[in-house]
Amino acid sequence: MKPYVICHMCTSIDGRILANRWPKLAGKKSPGDLFESTADSFRIPAWLVGTTTMREFAGRNARLEARRRRIERTDHLADTRARSFAIGADAKGVLRFQKPDVDGDHVVLLVSGRVSNDYLAHLQEAGVSYLFCGKDRVDVKVALDKIRRLLGIRRLMLEGGGTFNGELLHAGLVDEISQVVAPVVDGGRKITTIFDIPGEPPRKAAALLRLQSNRRLPGGAIWLRYRVARRSGAR
Ligand SMILES: NC(=O)c1ccc[n+]([C@@H]2O[C@H](COP(=O)([O-])OP(=O)(O)OC[C@H]3O[C@@H](n4cnc5c(N)ncnc54)[C@H](OP(=O)(O)O)[C@@H]3O)[C@@H](O)[C@H]2O)c1
Repeated sequence: MKPYVICHMCTSIDGRILANRWPKLAGKKSPGDLFESTADSFRIPAWLVGTTTMREFAGRNARLEARRRRIERTDHLADTRARSFAIGADAKGVLRFQKPDVDGDHVVLLVSGRVSNDYLAHLQEAGVSYLFCGKDRVDVKVALDKIRRLLGIRRLMLEGGGTFNGELLHAGLVDEISQVVAPVVDGGRKITTIFDIPGEPPRKAAALLRLQSNRRLPGGAIWLRYRVARRSGAR
């Protein structure tokens, strides 16, 4: 069981995603505005990101208090009435949310067996939910199954970064790609791209897509939507 997954990202024309390296677009539009307005148009109240991206929404990296409490190592749903969700991977327990929401979206962290009891106690005190998704890493198949079954999410926005997107694409879990292409060439050889599959590069292209729509946006950007027709990506 899994939700329908739409990977929504804003890229340069060479597929890179670190928009803070780019200038303002014509008409003073920022790539961030274009990303947000197109994302909102889906009206899907649940988004999922990797640890590095989620860190941008978490509190400052405070030290964990030693609580010496034994905590059941089971899934924890802190807000069963939540209707919108900010979901992030945190296999090692490095994020420090001090509050249970990001702009009203309830925070749910995907953790692994590596996280400490002190970390779980911290999340419970902050009112944050967590789901165990693997022994020492986040198994993305397990994660999507739990997101569908335990949170009741049928449609999900996958919103970066490139490493986490790459993992989900490679696992065959992405159904659609929504790409806002800003009229910028980044050109940085090692700069993160929309899909950076972890590990050895796949021997073949990772997926074949079918174009669904294309639209001009303000600032000279283009919005492309694709269905994932077939995943290849043999290592
Ligand atoms: N332009 C856009 O539309 C857009 C959108 C989103 C983000 N971004 C940018 O993208 C950048 C971050 O991208 P990123 O690729 O470096 O990081 P990321 O994909 O956000 O996070 C990657 C990290 O997630 C952790 N992780 C946990 N479980 C994982 C799993 N199963 N598979 C893969 N990773 C897993 C890993 O850290 P551990 O190994 O330490 O656990 C990994 O290093 C940020 O600068 C952000 O601003 C841009």
